Amino acid sequence: MTFVMAGYMSSCLLLTSLLTLQYIGAISATQMCTEVTVNLTYNCESLRLEEIPESLPATTKFLEFSFNFLPDLQNSTFGRLRDLVYLDLTRCEINWVHEDAFENNKDLSTIILTGNPLIFVADTAFEGPRALKHLTLTQTGITSVTFIPMQNLGNLETLHLGSNHLSSIQLPSTFPAHNLKVLDFEWNAIHHITKKDIVSLRQASNLSLNLKGNNILDIENGAFHSTAFQSLNFGGIFDISIVLKGLQNSTTQTLWLGSFQDIGNPQISSDMLEGMCNMSVEVLNLQSHHFLMSNTIFQCFTRLQELDLTQTHWNSLPSGIEGMNQLKKLVLNQNLFDNLCQISAASFPSLTHLYVKGNIHKLDFGTGCLEKLKNLLHLDLSNSKVASDTCCNVQLRNLSLLQYLNLSYNEPQTLESEAFRECPQLELLDFASTHLHTHASPSPFQNLHVLQVLNLSNCLVDTSNPQLLEGLQGLQHLDLDGNSFHSGILTKDNLLHTVDNLQVLVLSSCGLTALEHQAFGNLGKLRYLDLQHNSLTGSGLDAFSDLKETHLNLAANSIRIIPPNLLPVFSQQRIINLSHNPIDCSCSNIHFLNWYKENLHKISDPEETTCGDPPALNGVKLTNVTLSCAFSTVGIFFLVIFFLMGITFLIILIRRYVIRKYENI
Ligand SMILES: *[C@@H]1O[C@H](CO)[C@@H](O)[C@H](O)[C@H]1NC(C)=O
Ligand SMILES: *[C@@H]1O[C@H](CO)[C@@H](O)[C@H](O)[C@H]1NC(C)=O
Ligand SMILES: *[C@@H]1O[C@H](CO)[C@@H](O)[C@H](O)[C@H]1NC(C)=O
Ligand SMILES: *[C@@H]1O[C@H](CO)[C@@H](O)[C@H](O)[C@H]1NC(C)=O
Ligand SMILES: *[C@@H]1O[C@H](CO)[C@@H](O)[C@H](O)[C@H]1NC(C)=O
Ligand SMILES: *[C@@H]1O[C@H](CO)[C@@H](O)[C@H](O)[C@H]1NC(C)=O
Ligand SMILES: *[C@@H]1O[C@H](CO)[C@@H](O)[C@H](O)[C@H]1NC(C)=O
Ligand SMILES: *[C@@H]1O[C@H](CO)[C@@H](O)[C@H](O)[C@H]1NC(C)=O
Ligand SMILES: *[C@@H]1O[C@H](CO)[C@@H](O)[C@H](O)[C@H]1NC(C)=O
Repeated sequence: MTFVMAGYMSSCLLLTSLLTLQYIGAISATQMCTEVTVNLTYNCESLRLEEIPESLPATTKFLEFSFNFLPDLQNSTFGRLRDLVYLDLTRCEINWVHEDAFENNKDLSTIILTGNPLIFVADTAFEGPRALKHLTLTQTGITSVTFIPMQNLGNLETLHLGSNHLSSIQLPSTFPAHNLKVLDFEWNAIHHITKKDIVSLRQASNLSLNLKGNNILDIENGAFHSTAFQSLNFGGIFDISIVLKGLQNSTTQTLWLGSFQDIGNPQISSDMLEGMCNMSVEVLNLQSHHFLMSNTIFQCFTRLQELDLTQTHWNSLPSGIEGMNQLKKLVLNQNLFDNLCQISAASFPSLTHLYVKGNIHKLDFGTGCLEKLKNLLHLDLSNSKVASDTCCNVQLRNLSLLQYLNLSYNEPQTLESEAFRECPQLELLDFASTHLHTHASPSPFQNLHVLQVLNLSNCLVDTSNPQLLEGLQGLQHLDLDGNSFHSGILTKDNLLHTVDNLQVLVLSSCGLTALEHQAFGNLGKLRYLDLQHNSLTGSGLDAFSDLKETHLNLAANSIRIIPPNLLPVFSQQRIINLSHNPIDCSCSNIHFLNWYKENLHKISDPEETTCGDPPALNGVKLTNVTLSCAFSTVGIFFLVIFFLMGITFLIILIRRYVIRKYENI
């Protein structure tokens, strides 16, 4: 016992010295930047620095320097950091950017000046960098694009000018815009756009122009005539017909005309959308608008490939929509359908991707509502209160190419046997948090031979049915988080015996208290096993002997002692997470504690891997515990002597007692 006490004493001493070290560390951290990657990336955010610290190496390439104090940028400010590539100076109270402020930073490609009240920027401020590509001047109080010095911006690809006081998007004729790909004017005060404005952008091809949050009142008719854009964002526009008039004869890959919830926009009628007939758009977003129901509402959408109608208050789409044969992707999230058939799927026969997420009403899965979508690959019905009697063959009729199906967060479903006969190509099936009733056999997933990912987390599935996962021979990733097992035991003939190609298995929060020997007997390909948040103890962990090179996550269990015979089993794994377990740090666990120190490279999260016992070491990191449990030879010698003396003494006593007793007789 005394020797164990000595062990405690030494670890206490160690602990005290470590705490002292940490305290010193904390003091200097307030003046020091964080090293993200050695010699390359440093973070000096919010340190109230007034200069670049000497401690930063000259090799620094990426510097995060926001929320400091640098009112004047001079050529000497960053002179020492000659390798800089990326410089973030957000909110450094910069007022003045002097001549050649970056003259020594030849490789600088990104400068972020967000939130600095700029008063003066010298003409040669951005001279120096060979190829400055990204310049951010968001929230700098700029009132005109002419404020930006144009020298040496010929390589510029992105220019962010959001949240300023600009009233025109016109670039000066001398502005070197030929490489510009992104021009961001969001949240300025741009109310009018003229032909001249757009002509000034002509030298940039394939431009993404962001005009979100500007209260645009008029655009000259045909202002965008025969120009081509990668994307145009008019988010928050009040009357979309203003934009569409301006966009006559233009070409845009993506057009964003969505609104923001809080604005009472006029209802969109087919007349207002007529302008769409005279322009070329592939992807259109109209989110958060109201529409006037009419069969002709989408008549000018025939060339669209993608349409986003998120939160557009539809109870049903008109059934007479014609000509939308090119549409590949349709987003109908957060609408008010009662039955899936109300989306009139037959009007969009070429769809490959369909999203009806977050429906506001309870959504009847219907019968064959999607049967005309024979090219459908991706169907997301998550979070939509989807309800059905028995799922899923009549609902998914004719979707023979479907690869992705998301039915997570819906009403409880009853899965029939072979419930996915109609879509044998499924690769991913997500039922997370949708309660599932299944018939005993055959398995609902019987024919899904190419299914790779199955998410059954929090589905309350019948884990005692060993046939449940039959047929899933291609399954690589299975999530059973939050499902419970009978008496908390994972038996050796559990439902996993049919899925022997698994690479990732999640059994977290399953209430497991024990694993039977060979519970993972067939899972030789497992790379990650997640058993977090169960109640496993040290016994029964030999079930892992069938696993090799696995990442074992055993965090937040009740593991105290790991018996010595398990250590070879642990050694053959790749990574082990034992954090948040009440590990016993007394001599009864000394073999494991020694193994732990020798195998730290396998341990993930050593910071949170702490002792739970004995009380004196509660919360101490395993790495900081030093125990000496072995008795020395001298110790053993004295112990034996004491023991022998004790016995001799006892014998003498007994002898005396017996003799005295007989003397009395
Ligand atoms: C960091 O830079 C120093 C000085 O140039 C050099 O000695 C060291 O090897 C570098 N470290 C790494 C990881 O590159
Ligand atoms: C800054 O500019 C001044 C005047 O042009 C020059 O003398 C000085 O060498 C420059 N400093 C650095 C660090 O380049
Ligand atoms: C246009 O830009 C987009 C992304 O901004 C890019 O994917 C596309 O390849 C570009 N097209 C051309 C023709 O440069
Ligand atoms: C659109 O192009 C056509 C044919 O090139 C032309 O007649 C018409 O005036 C143009 N419309 C606008 C608004 O520029
Ligand atoms: C579309 O263009 C044609 C000719 O270019 C023109 O006659 C028609 O009025 C335009 N439609 C709209 C809605 O601007
Ligand atoms: C089912 O798809 C086939 C093509 O795969 C198509 O010919 C048939 O019309 C579809 N059935 C129904 C009921 O739409
Ligand atoms: C399914 O949808 C849910 C909720 O929208 C989402 O969190 C989840 O990531 C989706 N599943 C997959 C595999 O994308
Ligand atoms: C279900 O699991 C898959 C695979 O890990 C994951 O991509 C998906 O996001 C999960 N679904 C939910 C709703 O979390
Ligand atoms: C180990 O498990 C803990 C507890 O769940 C978790 O926070 C941590 O991220 C895990 N560590 C690693 C490296 O995955």
